[in-house]
Amino acid sequence: MSLSGPQVRRLDDRLAERSRGLTPHQYLMFLKSPSGALELEELISAVVVHKTDLFRDEVQLSAFRAQVLAPLVERARRPLRIWSAGCATGEEVATLLVLLAEAGADPGSTVLGTDISAEALRRARWLGFTQEQLRRVPNGTRERYFVPSGERVALAPSLRERASFQLHNLMDTPYPAPLGGGGFDVIFCRNVLIYFTVEAFQRTVEALAGSLVPGGTLVLSSSEPLLQLPPSLRVLRGEQAFFYVRVDGDTVGQGSTTTPGRGDGVKGLGATGRMREAERVVQAPVSTAPALPALASTATTRLPAEPVTEDSPPTAPVDPAFEEADLLFARVLDGAATGVADDAAERDLRRCLTLDPDHSAARYLLGLLLEQGLRPSEASVEYRRALESLEAGRARPVPFFLNPARLQVACAHAAERVEAAVRRR
Ligand SMILES: C[S@@+](CC[C@H](N)C(=O)[O-])C[C@H]1O[C@@H](n2cnc3c(N)ncnc32)[C@H](O)[C@@H]1O
Repeated sequence: MSLSGPQVRRLDDRLAERSRGLTPHQYLMFLKSPSGALELEELISAVVVHKTDLFRDEVQLSAFRAQVLAPLVERARRPLRIWSAGCATGEEVATLLVLLAEAGADPGSTVLGTDISAEALRRARWLGFTQEQLRRVPNGTRERYFVPSGERVALAPSLRERASFQLHNLMDTPYPAPLGGGGFDVIFCRNVLIYFTVEAFQRTVEALAGSLVPGGTLVLSSSEPLLQLPPSLRVLRGEQAFFYVRVDGDTVGQGSTTTPGRGDGVKGLGATGRMREAERVVQAPVSTAPALPALASTATTRLPAEPVTEDSPPTAPVDPAFEEADLLFARVLDGAATGVADDAAERDLRRCLTLDPDHSAARYLLGLLLEQGLRPSEASVEYRRALESLEAGRARPVPFFLNPARLQVACAHAAERVEAAVRRR
């Protein structure tokens, strides 16, 4: 994982609390021993972020339904195998089971959910939700696939029985395989890799690609564009979203269709700790637009001028206006994790942009916010302006967010997406 400076310090504090006088080495040995299993589980739960939702990112899901699932159901005419890697508390698994049922997939189709957190999986296995969590589920779908369960609502038993869960760390091999062997038809791994270092990100994508059947599809979240496509994947690009498809063994190495941002220099990003830190983006509350990234709840408000890692290059004195702009931006990210109202976030982002008009990360977030608020024309203006600052090299890299190369790709995709929506109106 790529932790920010403050996150490292917070983790240190937790470790100091939990290790109760043991030296770091003794504590590590304890964690690795059988009697330390529970402590390790609790430590993992204290570090990871489980934020998720039913029908998270409907825009991507409806593109998935049309471009991937419907043709797959039509073509395969057999039980499909889907894996939700980093499934948190199970909302994505439930969503996928509903999508399979709605698409008329073979009733023997299954969804495997895996996560590094045993605590999250305990909740996931229940596949029960609050009424509030069902807010994004379309009405007919809600009635058809969810049943009352005490004060809550549970996924219908006919769908629940097609789910299975497994503890798995994406850093560990072997990777899970579907019952009966072979690969998965589809792997969802959304809002998980954003916490990984560039190297771990790339390694995991390659391993996930290797867990797909040829022609199988990998779905990452819209805030995690792949800049360096492994030869085993090609891009399936639509107006609203893009997916990664495993190429057949025969065609590996023969080039792929579209490669967003290929050659954008991801290799170079690993070169310094500072740039690795800049890779960190976090995740997103649900929306009809790609959701607004929110910082891990473990993150504290960040101090922009502080060194983020030991190997950071020395930094030049920061313009006070930029310093304040970065603090406002950090506040919006923290606010997104804790559910601060959109109008407060919009105000902070606009203030941030008054202080630094080339703050492309803030402009991108403002675009997302406007898009979520169904103001696509305004969103398009913000994405285009962010893109302009990035292309002209005026945008400063902002710690704890997408690095400029990734941000540029994200802004270009976002602008195309909202402009297509405006044209369709
Ligand atoms: C933010 S949630 C995403 C949930 C869901 N995929 C979604 O998009 O709504 C990220 C999940 O990834 C899990 N995770 C983080 N690192 C992991 C790892 N190395 N292996 C497996 N799961 C991991 C966390 O425990 C957390 O539940």
